Amino acid sequence: MGLYDDHVLPIVIHAVCSSPLVMKMRARAVPRCAGVVLEVGAGSGINFALYDPALVEKVYALEPSAGMRRRARRNLATSPVPVEWLDLPGEQIPLADNSVDTVLLTYTLCTIPDAPAALAQMWRVLKPGGALIYAEHGLAPDAGVAAWQHRITPTWKQFAGGCHLNRPIAQLIHDAGFVHAEQDAAYAEGSPRFVGHMFTGLALKPR
Ligand SMILES: C[S@@+](CC[C@H](N)C(=O)[O-])C[C@H]1O[C@@H](n2cnc3c(N)ncnc32)[C@H](O)[C@@H]1O
Repeated sequence: MGLYDDHVLPIVIHAVCSSPLVMKMRARAVPRCAGVVLEVGAGSGINFALYDPALVEKVYALEPSAGMRRRARRNLATSPVPVEWLDLPGEQIPLADNSVDTVLLTYTLCTIPDAPAALAQMWRVLKPGGALIYAEHGLAPDAGVAAWQHRITPTWKQFAGGCHLNRPIAQLIHDAGFVHAEQDAAYAEGSPRFVGHMFTGLALKPR
């Protein structure tokens, strides 16, 4: 891991992920988490403050980047819920089958190198009846915007920590076996379309 990934990227990601638009979207998703929660790609821990301590027993914060975990120290210290780091990637979740009540994904599925493999792991650890709650960005529905997303992604991901602009988020979640109870996709107001097509939802692992 180079200087850019370890020191510069965590500062950039933290700044982008704290923007008012992103904060508004995460504020709708995080307080819905309940029980034992697995947050995949917890980053700088911006979500920690938004968990409802009346609903959440414990959070497993999976984050493979040491730089991001360092950046999260302040949020960890003030978290209203107990947090335990898991320092592995989402493709290798070190938890037992059917052991968590909620999986949370915020702006992470774009970045995980093997998204289907990571979703298969999330499915494995989620209890039947448990929920995957997500707020992500991804593939736009307009052909013109999508063409640009496909064109830009190979270069973009070199500088943006592996972020893909062109992932069909809801489809990937569906393909992993989750059943959507709620889903929404729309361009965020005030955001460039190539990066601002937002997916939010709640999908269940059926009993
Ligand atoms: C754009 S950041 C989002 C961070 C956080 N979820 C948030 O909402 O602020 C993407 C995160 O995914 C993490 N990541 C990268 N590869 C990953 C993998 N294979 N499994 C899980 N997380 C990964 C990155 O280290 C980074 O912290």
